[in-house]
Amino acid sequence: MDRSKYTILVADDEELLRWSIKEIVSRKGYRVVVAANGREALEVYHRDHPDLSLLDIQMPELTGMEVLKQIMAEEPQALVVMISAYGQVERAVAACRLGAQDFVCKPFDNDDLLRRIERILEPVRLRHQVEGLLADQRQRYAIDQIVGQSESLREVFTLIRKVAATPNTTVLITGESGTGKDLVAKVIHHQSARAEQPMVEINCAAIPEHLLESELFGHEKGSFTGAGERKLGLVERANGGTLFLDEVGDMALDLQAKLLRLLENRTIRRVGGVDDLGVDLRVIAATNRDLSKRVEEGAFRADLYYRLNVLPIRLPALRERQGDAPLLVRFFLDRLNREMGKQVRTIGEDALACLSAYAWPGNVRELKNVIERAHILADGERIEVSDLPAEVRGGGAGGAPAGVATATAFGLPEQGIDLEEVERRLLTDALARTQGNQTQAAALLRLGRDALRYRMKKFGMLE
Ligand SMILES: Nc1ncnc2c1ncn2[C@@H]1O[C@H](COP(=O)(O)OP(=O)(O)O)[C@@H](O)[C@H]1O
Ligand SMILES: [Mg+2]
Repeated sequence: MDRSKYTILVADDEELLRWSIKEIVSRKGYRVVVAANGREALEVYHRDHPDLSLLDIQMPELTGMEVLKQIMAEEPQALVVMISAYGQVERAVAACRLGAQDFVCKPFDNDDLLRRIERILEPVRLRHQVEGLLADQRQRYAIDQIVGQSESLREVFTLIRKVAATPNTTVLITGESGTGKDLVAKVIHHQSARAEQPMVEINCAAIPEHLLESELFGHEKGSFTGAGERKLGLVERANGGTLFLDEVGDMALDLQAKLLRLLENRTIRRVGGVDDLGVDLRVIAATNRDLSKRVEEGAFRADLYYRLNVLPIRLPALRERQGDAPLLVRFFLDRLNREMGKQVRTIGEDALACLSAYAWPGNVRELKNVIERAHILADGERIEVSDLPAEVRGGGAGGAPAGVATATAFGLPEQGIDLEEVERRLLTDALARTQGNQTQAAALLRLGRDALRYRMKKFGMLE
């Protein structure tokens, strides 16, 4: 523990005693401020806001008892230890009733004094530690850690801000694997009023079905074979905070009924229990499945679907916001440079072209992995095409990099091919990838914008 962060006030009218306490305490590393009488003690208290005050009971001007009363009136949580002379034990006990944490009797043992100080400051230290960790988390899951500027993502940002500000709203996050559902759930929790309470994450697809109910809701002692003691479920542990149900689309039907009860009544019942227990939490659910389709198939309860779908956040696939790929590359590269102590500052033009053109079926997760790999492989300060995996380099099986792709990369199938159809498809792909931006689509196809529009007209894609 860094004791220099803690200030201790030593107030005693005996100079020698003041000096010796200061010696002992500051040798341990604490910052020490002193006062020679009660009035000065209050002045120093107001000036330095000590974390702990040691007050002699008997002091001129204002007694230690009076200083204590004053401090307690201003700040009931203040930490005070009284220093009592021989024969003042009764007053020391009275001081404790007035709010002092402890007292030491003169002449005192140095180690004993230090032990008492440390014991009293321990909760303060823990609180600082927790506050530090919470602040770290808040930063780590700040909204600017979600990278992207595309229109589709901007809508997501607006929703995240609104949802973070309403800590009881149920949220459903959908999107393909790797689009950032987990990240968004954490950002919502850590930017909400529930941030200081736990966030409990459950992967509904990963827990065996017969265990899921007791995992979620806990169980009473002896409620089934193997259920030894009473056990708190994950839902109870999330109380006050956020319950994150990942892969909710894979939850078994009978559990869906219990989840519905939780959402409707805010109560749970432990396995083998008879009482309904109230809980106060926010549910965030995520899935990469199409829940409405699961409902049609009879695999997901319609009523639960409507309950969850109050505030849907749909995360776009990376190929729907291809323009964000270079931003993400930069973001991960900067982070890796910071964390790994290896500086890979730039990306070759061809390599960047490959990264921008690739369709990213594994979305941001795949892009992150590709960059991590390239960061390791890169010889100098630059990522080159050769640092990228074959599928990203483009052209399928070891073909030419997409940046310098030529028609030969495709090859002519034996049975021949409908050239018009190929052209139409490339056109559609380019437009999808650039979200309909004709200038960018034209650039991808090395066409002028007019030439692109001519072809769009030819294929009936323009009025
Ligand atoms: N928009 C984004 N900006 C920065 N990092 C992202 C973004 N989306 C996803 N990530 C990162 O990509 C990885 C996969 O995201 P994750 O949230 O686990 O996806 P999902 O839960 O949808 O499968 C994580 O490391 C996550 O931090
Ligand atoms: Mg996930």
